[in-house]
Amino acid sequence: QPSQTWSQRFESALHPAIAQFNASIGFDIELIEYDLTGSQAHAKMLAKTGIISEAEGEQLVTGLEQIRQEYRAGQFQPGVDAEDVHFAVERRLTEITGDVGKKLHTARSRNDQVGTDTRLYLRSQIQDIQQQLREFQTVLLDLAQQHVRTLIPGYTHLQRAQPISLAHHLLAYFEMAQRDWTRLGEIYQRVNVSPLGSGALAGTTFPIDRHYAAELLEFGGLYENSLDGVSDRDFAIEFLCAASLIMVHLSRLSEEVIFWASQEFSFVALKDSCATGSSIMPQKKNPDVPELVRGKTGRVFGHLQGMLVLMKGLPLAYNKDLQEDKEALFDAVKTVRACLEAMTILFREGLEFKTTRLNQAVSEDFSNATDVADYLAAKGVPFRVAYNLVGKVVRSCLAENKLLKDLSLTEWQELHPAFEEDIYEAIAPVQVVAARNSFGGTGFEQVERAIASAKQRLG
Ligand code: ARG
Repeated sequence: QPSQTWSQRFESALHPAIAQFNASIGFDIELIEYDLTGSQAHAKMLAKTGIISEAEGEQLVTGLEQIRQEYRAGQFQPGVDAEDVHFAVERRLTEITGDVGKKLHTARSRNDQVGTDTRLYLRSQIQDIQQQLREFQTVLLDLAQQHVRTLIPGYTHLQRAQPISLAHHLLAYFEMAQRDWTRLGEIYQRVNVSPLGSGALAGTTFPIDRHYAAELLEFGGLYENSLDGVSDRDFAIEFLCAASLIMVHLSRLSEEVIFWASQEFSFVALKDSCATGSSIMPQKKNPDVPELVRGKTGRVFGHLQGMLVLMKGLPLAYNKDLQEDKEALFDAVKTVRACLEAMTILFREGLEFKTTRLNQAVSEDFSNATDVADYLAAKGVPFRVAYNLVGKVVRSCLAENKLLKDLSLTEWQELHPAFEEDIYEAIAPVQVVAARNSFGGTGFEQVERAIASAKQRLG
């Protein structure tokens, strides 16, 4: 038997290094379950349309199922000589079913086959990632519910800005994850389109029923154009884009955890189950989990960029370049899934928010300055006038090493007669947070509303 499926056309054998170079079996074995499912649908379609007999169709489906069992039992391990997963399966099927197996590839090309497999794979991965996002959101929501009244400095430019509820901070990430979840659902619609039956590029001479095969595979629709069907990888790029955004969000959160855990911030303590030590410095406890998540983000961005560049110069239709889509996709999927899992564990059980320190932090700064200006503005002083007055007070407080709460009522009234005793309440951190009760703000009532809305969306 010639070594390659296509060897009859060739006079001499493939150089072993080139065989290795050309082969994708080393990684596309990942697609095997989808390849088997796709082939079973194709076989059923061939039988239904009378292109092969019913009996042959059944033999093919059963043979493919046997390969599935063999693979799951670790008994099917094709080597480089098989070139790719598609040839490997066809070859094994022919061993099992004899000449019938040789009919499987009627009215089909590896080009529409691999496109089908990749979409089936991604479809399933998208659902799993959506589920993981849901778990991550649940953990964030649980934590938010515990920390509605824990205050944390809110920053802009990484400078203390206004105090906020820790729950509000965590819920910001809940919302990002919510968009990620929705985005994946939208992309799913475009992944879930069947290229099967596009043939090598131009369709087929056989009376196939593409709709039937697509229905069996539960695709939501069909590629309208066979050239597009075999050469489109937009769906993979869109997925990599969504994966990149998930990583952006996880990476931003990671960055925050890393500095929260520093001695300078001391907002969280890392629990032993999610931290690591040093080989030389006995005192160290390192935030490896968020650091790795931040680091792995670059890989996923790289795959997105790689796929865009891969596609930009490709003429229609299939080109072998497209084989390069798989490792990018597989690695991005694995990376996103591992990071989501690790971050979910970290937020479920790996962090202890230091509530005393957090609540204290917000009373040691000028993050209530806006509220002094708002206080005057609410009494009719034009906001910009009030703002300028407060700027001056902050400057003199800084010079005298005082905080706003340290000023006497006389001092306040010298500044502006509108100040009354209630200024002290107005600038107390809890009140500062509570007062931001505009829709979507950090006020406790709003945070409670946001929690209810989040719960509802989680279903
Ligand atoms: N291993 C190939 C890939 O992943 C399968 C399709 C090959 N088609 C071809 N005409 N060489 O892209």
